[in-house]
Amino acid sequence: MNESLTERADGGRRLRLYHDLADWYPLLTPVDDYIEEAAFYRRLFQTHCQRMPRTLLDLGSGGGHNAAHLKSTFACTLVDIAPAMLTLSRRLNPTCEHIEGDMRSLRLGGVFDCILVHDAVSYMTTRDDLASVIATAFALTAPGGVALFQPDFVAETFMPGIDTGGSDGDDGRALRYLEWRWIPENMTDGYVADMAYMLRSGDGEVEVVRERHVMGLFPRAVWLELIAAAGFEPLVVPFEHSSYSDTAAEVALGLRTGAKGFT
Ligand SMILES: C[S@@+](CC[C@H](N)C(=O)[O-])C[C@H]1O[C@@H](n2cnc3c(N)ncnc32)[C@H](O)[C@@H]1O
Repeated sequence: MNESLTERADGGRRLRLYHDLADWYPLLTPVDDYIEEAAFYRRLFQTHCQRMPRTLLDLGSGGGHNAAHLKSTFACTLVDIAPAMLTLSRRLNPTCEHIEGDMRSLRLGGVFDCILVHDAVSYMTTRDDLASVIATAFALTAPGGVALFQPDFVAETFMPGIDTGGSDGDDGRALRYLEWRWIPENMTDGYVADMAYMLRSGDGEVEVVRERHVMGLFPRAVWLELIAAAGFEPLVVPFEHSSYSDTAAEVALGLRTGAKGFT
């Protein structure tokens, strides 16, 4: 087994994309690409919360690209383990509160109507880590509120293959990437995404960087079991997005029901 497969469940600490390459991140996944999905998450929260939600906690908020489109509706608090990503997000979302923390263990003084656990949850590579994140979400969800989990894949929807993308910045820089997803023979509950980033500077020089992202991959039944075990009522809904019409992408919700309303 390649030694980098042992670098699991490190909360993204060693990934250059979230550290010394963080300034390139907005070119890899531009903020405008999140408009449609953020609108979908807003609808889900407004539909499933027991009354009109006002506050949102984003766990693993990265560049804050979802929050950029949600902050006009909700008072957003953003949590990430990587200081460089918090710096990026503060630039984009100066009105939001930002907290450095690990979503496996974070505890705060208050609770939130909505908890968004977006693609960062895919970095949970063991069932124990996944359970810890869901326990964090439960501890921080207000009575009547909703936690939304959006892993890149569950085991049933995983598709090996490649994706390409990237964009041009307005400062002369540009980035293109290749993502190659596959499951090594002896790997359980996970897959790898081998990434190649082509980073073009303003002077036209191109540097190529590769790094391996080790991701968790769990059956839908495991997600539902862990969400229920944390105390939520679980619910799976299809991910409605124009780019995903031919796949079976889905979102798991945890409804914190059984209470009279928000505190
Ligand atoms: C793909 S980015 C998230 C992008 C984000 N969904 C957005 O809207 O911009 C993944 C993020 O997960 C963060 N992360 C990974 N493990 C974490 C953990 N255990 N706790 C908090 N953040 C974590 C990384 O630092 C990285 O910023």
